[in-house]
Amino acid sequence: MRRLLVTGGAGFIGANFCHYWCAAHPADRVVVLDALTYAGNLASIAPLIDTGRLRFVHGDIGERERLAALIAAETLDTVVNFAAESHVDRSLEDPATFLRTNVLGTEALLGAARDAWGAQALQRGCRFHHVSTDEVYGSLSASAAAFTESTPYAPNSPYAASKAAADHLVRAYGHSYGLPCTISNCSNNYGPYQFPEKLLPLSILNVLEGRPLPIYGDGLQIRDWLHVSDHCRAIELILAHSAPGETWNVGGSTQDPNLTVVGLLCELVDRAFAADGALAARFPQSPAAAGRASRSLIQHVRDRPGHDRRYAVDSGKIRERLGFSIGTALAPGLESTVRWYLGNEAWWRGVVSGEYREWYARQYAARPPDG
Ligand code: NAD
Ligand code: DAU
Repeated sequence: MRRLLVTGGAGFIGANFCHYWCAAHPADRVVVLDALTYAGNLASIAPLIDTGRLRFVHGDIGERERLAALIAAETLDTVVNFAAESHVDRSLEDPATFLRTNVLGTEALLGAARDAWGAQALQRGCRFHHVSTDEVYGSLSASAAAFTESTPYAPNSPYAASKAAADHLVRAYGHSYGLPCTISNCSNNYGPYQFPEKLLPLSILNVLEGRPLPIYGDGLQIRDWLHVSDHCRAIELILAHSAPGETWNVGGSTQDPNLTVVGLLCELVDRAFAADGALAARFPQSPAAAGRASRSLIQHVRDRPGHDRRYAVDSGKIRERLGFSIGTALAPGLESTVRWYLGNEAWWRGVVSGEYREWYARQYAARPPDG
């Protein structure tokens, strides 16, 4: 039985992890610590809080003493650190916030675990798992081999640089203080509860509400998409079987350009409207409500500065050593994700607050249509 501190548990992947973990490990104690930034939504884990399956603590990972006291008082033996500023475009606007949370915050959380667990952390079965990204490895050319765990770090955005710095701190805490740490470097996740600033949920909501679908540059950038449920299972395998000090790449083994993925989403929405007449009344602004193709909304806009061209993750290590396999392929995963957003309108209406609308207007005012 584990006693977990899940930081960032009100965000996209953290919330999915909490749902997954509480269902798979009903006897475990789960405490969520989240600062509830614009990206954190209590609604994503409300059923778990309301039924007493987890305890929610509102707080910042930068509060070392408070977190050490929480870990000690709750006798927590496992930290899974999802808390972060996670959006590349926002990091280009405001790098300092990313350094504060992703670098200094991670260091404070490492310090809190060290304070609470002491020198016997390894013997006591304690574990600090840090959730990182493939973006620390930089960008690949079209023909380059996928990132492995030994690919040199070459982060290109302030977000990626802050995550790279955090990874180095995790490694240093393991090496210098013997804190039992592991790291996972995962590719682009998608699925339920994703904040609609990221490409896929933004595209779904824009199609439903008849707004343009902004494609940065030529739209031929490649991401390696992984359904969030597979990421949660990968972390579970690492917690169960990895030795401390190991890092693990996790990816979905997909290599479709953004334009193709957004085109597929559009087709899925068109098909959903064709199959369910009620959707036209719920979303009258959507082209699909008038029988037009959703892809007519695609608009090429000014590119992201320093935009990484291609990510590809080699998951060979976790597959061969820990038995990881992908459970949800891209096409069915996108279909279930579209269905989830259609079925959870109250959730996404709740998160597209004033802050989101202001950010969206500012963001896309700075991205005029190309050509
Ligand atoms: P998210 O932005 O949806 O959620 C982040 C959560 O962290 C939010 O609930 C937010 O309130 C919380 N948070 C932010 N600052 C905090 C602070 N100082 N103290 C406590 N809580 C704070 O992010 P996500 O997409 O769920 O990503 C989770 C983690 O996974 C991040 O570390 C991210 O770098 C990493 N990751 C994300 C992806 C992806 O595709 N989304 C892929 C690989 C790795
Ligand atoms: O690779 C893992 C990373 O994936 C995570 O570490 C990050 O937290 C997560 O945000 C994600 O980063 P990306 O920058 O790849 O994700 P995003 O959804 O912002 O963009 C995906 C691709 O789509 C990227 O090539 C930029 C492009 N894009 C994005 C948006 C928001 C567009 O063309 N139009 C858009 O409006």
